[in-house]
Order: sequence, then structure tokens, then C-alpha cells
Amino acid sequence: MSKQFDVVVIGGGPGGYIAAIRAAQLGFQVACIDEWKNAAGGPAPGGTCTNVGCIPSKALLQSSEHFDHANHHFAEHGISAKDVKMDVAKMIARKDNVVKQNNDGILYLFKKNKVTFFHGRGSFAGKAEGGYTVNVAGKTEESITAKQVIIATGSNARALPGTPFDEVNVLSNDGALRVGAVPKKLALIGSGVIGLEMGSVWRRLGADVTILEGLPTFLGAVDEQIAKEAKKAFDKQGLKIELGVKVGEIVNGKKGVTVNYTNAKGEAIVLEADKLIVSIGRVPNTIGLNAEAIGLAVDERGAIVVDGDCKTNVPGVWAVGDVVRGPMLAHKAEEEGVAVAERIAGQHGHVNFNTIPWVIYTSPEIAWVGRTEQQLKADGVAYKAGTFPFLANGRARALGDTTGMVKFLADATTDEILGVHMVGPQVSELISEAVVAMEFKASAEDIARICHAHPSLSEATKEAALAVDKRTLNF
Ligand code: FAD
Ligand code: NAI
Repeated sequence: MSKQFDVVVIGGGPGGYIAAIRAAQLGFQVACIDEWKNAAGGPAPGGTCTNVGCIPSKALLQSSEHFDHANHHFAEHGISAKDVKMDVAKMIARKDNVVKQNNDGILYLFKKNKVTFFHGRGSFAGKAEGGYTVNVAGKTEESITAKQVIIATGSNARALPGTPFDEVNVLSNDGALRVGAVPKKLALIGSGVIGLEMGSVWRRLGADVTILEGLPTFLGAVDEQIAKEAKKAFDKQGLKIELGVKVGEIVNGKKGVTVNYTNAKGEAIVLEADKLIVSIGRVPNTIGLNAEAIGLAVDERGAIVVDGDCKTNVPGVWAVGDVVRGPMLAHKAEEEGVAVAERIAGQHGHVNFNTIPWVIYTSPEIAWVGRTEQQLKADGVAYKAGTFPFLANGRARALGDTTGMVKFLADATTDEILGVHMVGPQVSELISEAVVAMEFKASAEDIARICHAHPSLSEATKEAALAVDKRTLNF
């Protein structure tokens, strides 16, 4: 006998679990199915983000940053810390504990919101009288029927053709987050978000890190001026980033990995490394969903085809997050999940794709929202730019972290903010002000006239807004 619900969510990552909670808040009977297992085989909801993505990567970034500070920055504060050691096993165990706290938190939230959780793989069995039937294969077999189904099955790491992940030497994001000892030599392919974050973790801990990037430009999606500033900082740290390479044969040997590549000058290079992290993007995941049973349309990339409202081609079936078009970000997945639940309830769910922030959690951090200067030029938009360096910010000097800047781009006529770009300390937090401003269609002048606490890094935001009108006060 199939259990009847109003809404079934397949996938318990940020897109799915948030959609389930919002739908329950709106009064629906909701089930959420997720197959992720913890080390003991128990449920571990939260998806890629919680288990092998956002949360564990930030835990390791934090630990490695403490280590880096103890080694390189304590002395300037008058603190001597000799013989600083990193216990990698303890760092990984702490990370695992942070992940577990988040898994448990989601299970608690399901209980609190009366979402029924099913641990197992969900697959479509077809159309039924009460809607769609989804089978759950876990410790037991169950069958669920609902009129509305939200698919939030996420994405998987893309492997290089011919070089499968063994998670021992050739690592995806999963293996990269549980390396047991600091590799002497670490190679990464792809200098995107994962390459830079994971490369930073292991470099700070003492690895000799080389990142091989296929494109000739560094962080092409980032504002050029900001990307250049970030690259300068990474070069200074000793993070070796080779642009414009062509990766050839990769040999996964017993003791390590050999990467053959051609550099930008056309020279053939052989790179020996203890470990290789492949971070060349992710592919939408519909494995095991049996999407064919309901005739769900999937595009050539494997993404479920949806319209602007996350509706699929099948009435009553929706899809959100990494498994559909758009940026593969946890907060984008969450926003879509909330919007879909609200649309099911007949409300006007809303996601503004123009104000989705991006953050790269390196040191310095990189954050942005809206269009870059190169995009505005390409779009033929007349704009004004204003920048303010953290070097001229009192709080940044007190922190001892003056790398980077805040940059505003505003419409030349109306002064409306079109993009805000940052590289520097704690810009992952500072970017929110820019997101709020853009969501409310603020002008640069609006930000310039708002009182910001002193001394704070946020004053750099105000000063960059003042710079649009060429009237900075502290630079
Ligand atoms: P997922 O989080 O992938 O969740 C999908 C869930 O569905 C999984 O639990 C999966 O097991 C389950 N599932 C799949 N198929 C089935 C099925 N048939 N039945 C049952 N369950 C199923 N984004 C950020 O915004 N900020 C960050 O700092 C950040 N850091 C990242 C770091 C790394 C190393 C990686 C890899 C990603 C990072 N991301 C970050 C991206 C972020 O993790 C994803 O955008 C986000 O997890 C997408 O959420 P989702 O709900 O669409 O899918
Ligand atoms: P990415 O798309 O950010 O970067 C992949 C890089 O690999 C690109 O620069 C690309 O040019 C390069 N590349 C692709 N094929 C190559 C090849 N054959 N040889 C050499 N270089 C090649 O993808 P990444 O880093 O794997 O991350 C996946 C996604 O996960 C990100 O796009 C992002 O959406 C999400 N993520 C978000 C984070 C955050 O928000 N802080 C952190 C980590 C991941």
C-alpha cells in the first residue's frame, strides 16, 4: 500500500530539505527522501553541501587558516608560537563532527516541521491515481504517492575522461576533504572555486601545490581587476597556478600520480604529485531516478529541463538546485526550493537571479554580485566605477590584513548599482550589504550616505560607493 502525501521531495540537500520545510510550513503533508549515508550507514541529510561541500570545506579552511596564522602572522602581534604542529587526523575528525552537527540539525528540523523523512533512493514508478508514485529503496522498500513532486537530486564531480576517481590518489571533492596526511606534492586540475579553496587548505598545511587550468584567463567569471588582485595574492603565497595548459596522459601509479601536460608556451611538462584533485566542474545528477517512467525531459548536459519557475515538462513535477540550469550554489538551490513550495501553495515564489552572490573562501576572500566591468562593456552599458583599497581602512590595518579592495559599478545616468566586487578580508560577510542594496535597486549614492560603524571593514564598502562620485574621504 502506497503512503499518500501532498508533496514528495527527492533529495535532502539545501534545495530539497529547505523545500520540504517550507512546504510543511505552508500546511502540506510532506515527505523528503534522501539516500546519503554516514560512516555507520545511517542517514546524513544535507546533500553535497553538508557532507562533502560547503560545510566541511569551510571547516578545513578555518583549521588551516589558524595554522597559517600561527606560523606566519602571530609573530607580528608579539606572540611566539614555535614548533606549531598540525594533527591532520584531529582536523579531519573535527570537520566530521561539524558535518554531523549539521546532519543532526536537519533531522531535528524535519521533526520540528513534521516532515516525514525516508532514508533511501527514490525512483519514479509512474503515474498513479493520487499523483506520482515514488519507490524508496533503503533498508526496507516503501512506496509513496503525491500530487506534487520536487526533484532536488544535486550534482556529482566531473571526472577527466580516462582518469576515474579512486579517492586514494585521484580525488574528487569527497576525497580531497579526507586526505589523511599533508601530501608533499599536490596537483589540482581546474583553478575554479574548488581548486582554489582546496589548494589553499593543503598549501597552508605545507603541501607544494600546483593548479593546472585549461583557460588562458584566471577566474574568467570574476571582475578582471578583482581577479588580477587575487592572483597577485595567491602568487605571493606560493600557490602555483598555471594557466592555458592542455592536460594529457595521467598515470595513477602505486605511489602517486604523474600528470603530463603542455604549458601555455607549448612545452611538454611532466608533473609528479602524491595526490591529484580533479576540480573541473560538476554534472547534474539523475542517476537512479528512473525519470523515463514519467517522461521527464533532460537536456544534453544531463540537467532536468525547467522553466523560470522550476516547472518541468511533467505537470506537478518540479526541479531545483544543481540538477537544473543556473549557478551550482547552495543558496541558489535553497531560494528555488522555497519559491517552488510557495508556488505549489498558490503563492508568488520569487528568485532574483541578478542578485545571487558568489563567494570564494580563499585568503583573501573573493565575493561579488551583479555584473562585472567586462560584462558591462560587452553589454554596451554606460557605467561609473569606484574602488577603495583595504590598505586605507583602519580596521583592516588593525587586523593586519590589508590585501584587496571593494569595487562599485553604477549606471552612468541613474547611479543604480549594477555590480559590486570585492577581494579582501571577510568580504564573504560584506557582500550581503551589496546584495540588499541591489535587491532594493539602490544607487551608489544611497550606500555612500548610510552611516557605517567605525572602525569596520564595511567602511570600505561605503568609501567605494563614494568613489563612484570621486569623493572618497579616506583615500
Ligand atoms: P545536493 O546538495 O547535491 O543534494 C542532493 C541530495 O540528493 C544528496 O543528498 C543525494 O544523496 C540525494 N539524492 C540524489 N538522488 C537521489 C535519489 N534518487 N533518491 C534519494 N536521494 C537522492 N555552494 C555554496 O553556495 N557555497 C559554498 O561554499 C560551496 N562550497 C562547495 C564546496 C565543494 C567542495 C562542493 C563540491 C560544492 C560546494 N558548493 C557550495 C555547492 C553546493 O554544495 C551545491 O550547490 C548544493 O549542495 C546543491 O544543492 P542541491 O540540494 O541541489 O543538491
Ligand atoms: P568550476 O566551474 O568552478 O571550475 C572548473 C575549472 O576547471 C574552470 O576554471 C575550467 O576552465 C577548468 N577546467 C575544466 N576542464 C579542464 C581541463 N580538462 N583541464 C584544465 N582545466 C579545466 O568547478 P569546480 O571548482 O569543480 O566547482 C564546481 C562547482 O561547485 C562550482 O562551479 C560552484 O558552483 C560550486 N562550488 C562553490 C563554492 C563556493 O560557493 N564557495 C565552493 C566550491 C564549489
